[in-house]
Amino acid sequence: MKVVLGVGGGVAAYKSALLLRLFTEEGHDVTVLPTTASLNFVGAATWEALSGRPAPRDVFEDVEQVNHVRLGHEADLVVVAPATADLLARAAHGLADDLLTNTLLVATCPVLFVPAMHTQMWQHPATVANVATLRSRGAHVLDPAVGRLTGCDSGPGRLPDPPDIHAAAIALVAPDSTERPVPARDAVADGVLSGRRVLITAGGTREPLDPVRYLGNRSSGKQGVALACAARDAGAHVTLIGANLQVEAPDGVDLVTVETTDQLHDAVLAATPDADLVVMAAAVADFRPRSLATHKIKKSDDGTDPVIELTRTPDILAEISANRARPGQVIVGFAAETGDDTHTALEFARAKLARKGCDALVLNEVTGGAVFGQDSTAVHVVTPDGNTAEATGTKDDVAVFLVGTFARIPASTVGR
Ligand code: CTP
Repeated sequence: MKVVLGVGGGVAAYKSALLLRLFTEEGHDVTVLPTTASLNFVGAATWEALSGRPAPRDVFEDVEQVNHVRLGHEADLVVVAPATADLLARAAHGLADDLLTNTLLVATCPVLFVPAMHTQMWQHPATVANVATLRSRGAHVLDPAVGRLTGCDSGPGRLPDPPDIHAAAIALVAPDSTERPVPARDAVADGVLSGRRVLITAGGTREPLDPVRYLGNRSSGKQGVALACAARDAGAHVTLIGANLQVEAPDGVDLVTVETTDQLHDAVLAATPDADLVVMAAAVADFRPRSLATHKIKKSDDGTDPVIELTRTPDILAEISANRARPGQVIVGFAAETGDDTHTALEFARAKLARKGCDALVLNEVTGGAVFGQDSTAVHVVTPDGNTAEATGTKDDVAVFLVGTFARIPASTVGR
């Protein structure tokens, strides 16, 4: 595979020498494109010796080889590590003032940016907007790790370890799910959602029939609440919309409580414009009684059975997926499915993902009512590119895995 490794001007550039080694030891052809600023940290001789190739920077070097177009055309994968605030800004704005940014404009292969900078720079609205722009165009941007930075300060902004970058990069070009990244068990510690706003729905909606009865479902809200905790611990600002939660809502999140699907619909629509990631984990009623009796429905004297007429509720997930509230927003649905004689649960999940138009669907197999109210679960995450990631464990562990997985999903271009 032909890899272009772009190196930005940050102290973390030295770690990219190890990353380069991981690629070359697997037999990949790597061309390193250092920015001029990066040569203050690691010299061209290091890149040329380790890659066995020239490490050009300028579009006017070796012009006869048309490097500014050729390298991007030929690349199977472009990795930019470290991606500085300046480099992210130049890429987001389509500037082409050196060989690396030219290559980024030409490349049609997967592109992975691996930011590294001080926390304030990473969290600055300009950088946040540039990252959102790049993600909305299909580029992959890893969130930086949390830890010691160049000075004595620490926080989100550290370049992830080279083996993690390598695994994330290879996963982008891996032909099947077996080579997908290892589930992000350390997602919380790594602050993968640092600075992001996450909206999570949890629980199950209830549709009143009369003042004492309702149509409901068996969702306890455990998984959605575990997701809210994991997202909060991973650095996100979390809004949790709880529908009849049977577990305690966590501290440190903004809680909105609802009962019916209509209330959930209104609460979700009010909150989506602010959300970078929307996770629809709530079990939403598909039907509600056409009319609500104002008095308790009594048994009839003549023994006839009552008839309850139902009507459809709005499909919230499909609606917000079709009308994205903001560019770069990632929307995830959940589905509890069983297989039948003709289709597996996974096949049903893939069909539902396409129908809903969201960016990922988390499948729970619920044969025999397993999962509801339980502490453990097994999930598959399906995405429109046909890939699947899976995890089994407690709902808390699975939530950490899911948060890490969601953080890496490229936003869909559907509806934009
Ligand atoms: N959902 C929603 N609005 C609805 C129904 C479901 O937003 N009226 C969301 C759920 O929160 C979940 C996803 O859609 O994230 C899938 O829910 P599910 O009930 O499996 O979807 P349905 O479209 O109802 O599919 P089915 O006909 O198989 O029940």
